Amino acid sequence: MVQLVWVLVACMMYTAMGSTRISLVSTSIFDVTKYGAKGNGKTDDSPAFMKAWKAACEAPSNVRRSILLIPARRTFLLRPISFNGPCKPSSIYVQVSGNIIGPTKKTDWIGSHIDTWLEFTRVNGLTVSGNGRIDGQGPIWWENACIGTPTPGTTCHAPAALMFKRCNGLRLNGLTHINSPRVHVTITACNGVIISNLRIIAPETSPNTDGINIASSTNVKIRDSIIGTGDDCVAISGGSSNIMISSIVCGPGHGISIGALGNGGADVVENIEVRNCTMIKTLAGVRIKSWQGGSGYARKISFKGIKFDSVYNPIMIDQYYCPTQTNCRTSTSAVKISDVTFSGIMGTSRMDNVINISCSRSVACTNIVLDSVYISSATPGRKVFGTCINAHGRATHVKPSFNCLKR
Ligand SMILES: *[C@@H]1O[C@H](CO)[C@@H](O)[C@H](O)[C@H]1NC(C)=O
Ligand SMILES: *[C@@H]1O[C@H](CO)[C@@H](O)[C@H](O)[C@H]1NC(C)=O
Repeated sequence: MVQLVWVLVACMMYTAMGSTRISLVSTSIFDVTKYGAKGNGKTDDSPAFMKAWKAACEAPSNVRRSILLIPARRTFLLRPISFNGPCKPSSIYVQVSGNIIGPTKKTDWIGSHIDTWLEFTRVNGLTVSGNGRIDGQGPIWWENACIGTPTPGTTCHAPAALMFKRCNGLRLNGLTHINSPRVHVTITACNGVIISNLRIIAPETSPNTDGINIASSTNVKIRDSIIGTGDDCVAISGGSSNIMISSIVCGPGHGISIGALGNGGADVVENIEVRNCTMIKTLAGVRIKSWQGGSGYARKISFKGIKFDSVYNPIMIDQYYCPTQTNCRTSTSAVKISDVTFSGIMGTSRMDNVINISCSRSVACTNIVLDSVYISSATPGRKVFGTCINAHGRATHVKPSFNCLKR
């Protein structure tokens, strides 16, 4: 709406200035229903979306901004679909006012690339915004992620719901994402991203339904969002730097995680700030996890102003990550962790070990700082404690008392 008003104002200004060049109007609207989308929740609207996208993306050169409009009060059924760039207009605005749902039968996926449901690639200046709802129809995948019977010895993973790949200057705002088959929103190889005001909802028991994953991306801000799923609320993986996560309410879920890093190779992560976040009954709070083996580093990471409500593992560095707990790799190489600050943190825990800094026995963590950290048991009167392995740094104003950091 704001956008449309802006266009009108711009038109009026041109008129006021006595401009005769009406063609200067540089925004075009591409309504998916004008391209044949039905929005009845039953008809496959992907071909219509593809046509509208092509028109928006290949708009004539006087169009600086294309708006792909997904109108309100309708539900559009989409099969797996890729919205590919590069596009001609310098900005593409996807207005999601209506709802989008995924195929309700796995067989609708036969012949499709199974990794992702809705994918945007190489679209610079992309904004996806609106108060629509994106429903991935996750329950059909959660029990068995394969289509049909899996070949013996193979595993399948369910598709990610919404993926942005190589989209610089991305904005994602206002949407509700529910029941993804796997991760809800993935940002990969993007630079300059702002994600805000999302609601991401899936059951606590749904497997691998991370809220937002960030991989190989730089200059990413995620703020003012509510995330409650069956896995990490936000996960930041290798190749990511200058990431700011703020004002997130997380739970249920597995908290906000950096990693798992070092799964076969070098991983680099730096300049990460997580601030003003609340974790409610999550399995982990804030953590950095890495597999044994691997190389690279995770450094300049700070967690500030975090509140915990009955969290299981509030503060964790875990360099022994091995989710299956079987055939775990053991190795003397490790991702080097340094310059990590936990400050202004308070709340309650369901477990007694509330601070667990477990660094590699061969590669120490250095400059680990805890300041003003107060965590008590969710059970009144119960004692809590912290532990560490091979960690250097300092702790000031910490409860429970935390004396295991080496100088
Ligand atoms: C902190 O986060 C909460 C949501 O949990 C939000 O309401 C509040 O405005 C945020 N405060 C600041 C200073 O950003
Ligand atoms: C701390 O974390 C490590 C690594 O996950 C784990 O092996 C250990 O049992 C934990 N310590 C406690 C006391 O819970």
